[in-house]
Amino acid sequence: MKFTTVLPVLVGAAPAFGQVNIKPDESGRYTISADGIKAQFIPYGATLTNLFVKDKDGKDIDVVLGYDNTSYYPVDKGHPVYNAIPGRYVNRIGKATYTLDGKKYQTEANDGPNTLHSGTNNWSYRVWNVTAAEKDSITFSITDPAYAEKGMPGEVDASVTYSVANSTWHIKMAAAAPETRTPLMLTHHTYFNLDAYKDPATSKIWNHTLYMPRANRWLEAGDDAVPTGKVLPAQPNSINDFASAPDMQLGHASGDPKFAGNCGGGGACEGYNGYFVFDDSSEKGKADDPDVILASSFSGVRAELRTDQAGVVIYTCNWMDGTADLKSTQGLKDRKKVARSSCVAIEAHDWVDGINHPEWKRLDAQIKGPGEKYSWESSWSFVVIKT
Ligand SMILES: *[C@@H]1O[C@H](CO)[C@@H](O)[C@H](O)[C@H]1NC(C)=O
Ligand SMILES: *[C@@H]1O[C@H](CO)[C@@H](O)[C@H](O)[C@H]1NC(C)=O
Ligand SMILES: *[C@@H]1O[C@H](CO)[C@@H](O)[C@H](O)[C@H]1NC(C)=O
Ligand SMILES: *[C@@H]1O[C@H](CO)[C@@H](O)[C@H](O)[C@H]1NC(C)=O
Ligand SMILES: *[C@@H]1O[C@H](CO)[C@@H](O)[C@H](O)[C@H]1NC(C)=O
Repeated sequence: MKFTTVLPVLVGAAPAFGQVNIKPDESGRYTISADGIKAQFIPYGATLTNLFVKDKDGKDIDVVLGYDNTSYYPVDKGHPVYNAIPGRYVNRIGKATYTLDGKKYQTEANDGPNTLHSGTNNWSYRVWNVTAAEKDSITFSITDPAYAEKGMPGEVDASVTYSVANSTWHIKMAAAAPETRTPLMLTHHTYFNLDAYKDPATSKIWNHTLYMPRANRWLEAGDDAVPTGKVLPAQPNSINDFASAPDMQLGHASGDPKFAGNCGGGGACEGYNGYFVFDDSSEKGKADDPDVILASSFSGVRAELRTDQAGVVIYTCNWMDGTADLKSTQGLKDRKKVARSSCVAIEAHDWVDGINHPEWKRLDAQIKGPGEKYSWESSWSFVVIKT
């Protein structure tokens, strides 16, 4: 969807550059809030640490993953890009190489032979600057020198403005590459469990419903989650179908033998870690309709994503191994850790590894240079499900 026609009250909520009118708490968290919503951030990775919305009983519930201890984010090198902005080129680069304007570039292989989230100097591991802040919005900025992530030419200057209003969290990113053409593709890597891990029946994510009315196609990927190049239809009721019905659970295909290896890992990755393409010509999802709806009947929270991006990665947290701590706002007396397949990351961005697939015609969206602007805009609205 296009943001020019909707959410006028949210667009332009950012204060002028340079006015930082709120202070972080003693742990370094900046808090912004509005009716029905409170969001907290740290400069490290421009990370969302907590997101409180209303559940069906009117109580505040923290629906995203993270740590209580803000000092722990940089220490935990294995952290899975918790609600941060990986950059400057998200997701995978196949075989850690790409060709741009006739020159071959070698990126850092940090995920087997491939590059994941730009390598070991990715933006989610850097301390961003707070360049503007008010009670309902905050802007983080980063200057990324040429080759900071290896194999990425030219400086990139980027900023993200998070704002809240009326149970909606709005995210707007802007970036420029003033020196030379470079791959540039961003996302907000948000991990949800809409029950805050408090459903005594299960901590797994499978009973959350997911509806993506325009996701009629998906990118076939190899065992290493790198797209093969094939764009396949999401046949109704098949494992990758979340388009044909509004009440499909994330575990709807758990009885299918292919579910256990659906996201690769030599058959070890159960569930989802793939890219779904939004169909522009679809009659569904026009105008102000959400592109993605994630919901849980236990908490009664429905999260609606509206985005100007071409699709989303859905990752159902297979690789969480039960060692990461839950926040004190989440879990139960006997449930303190993030179990396997207990969350879902929803990452709106352009086609995965599009720089290596000119036949997809995504190069204009994924490569930016002097005089061009990169922009990315999404919002998450939280609605209580009426039963
Ligand atoms: C928070 O994490 C830091 C880094 O690991 C550690 O030094 C500190 O002791 C932790 N604080 C608490 C209260 O656990
Ligand atoms: C990002 O950078 C950190 C710190 O160098 C590294 O540990 C991590 O593996 C990198 N990649 C990803 C996908 O997090
Ligand atoms: C933050 O701003 C300072 C001063 O302008 C600059 O030196 C630094 O590189 C900036 N940090 C980032 C992550 O861009
Ligand atoms: C807040 O959002 C709800 C649900 O989207 C909508 O019905 C209501 O009109 C909005 N209120 C304001 C003040 O914008
Ligand atoms: C929860 O999900 C599992 C796995 O898909 C399924 O077997 C079960 O029936 C679901 N439970 C409810 C209450 O929907």
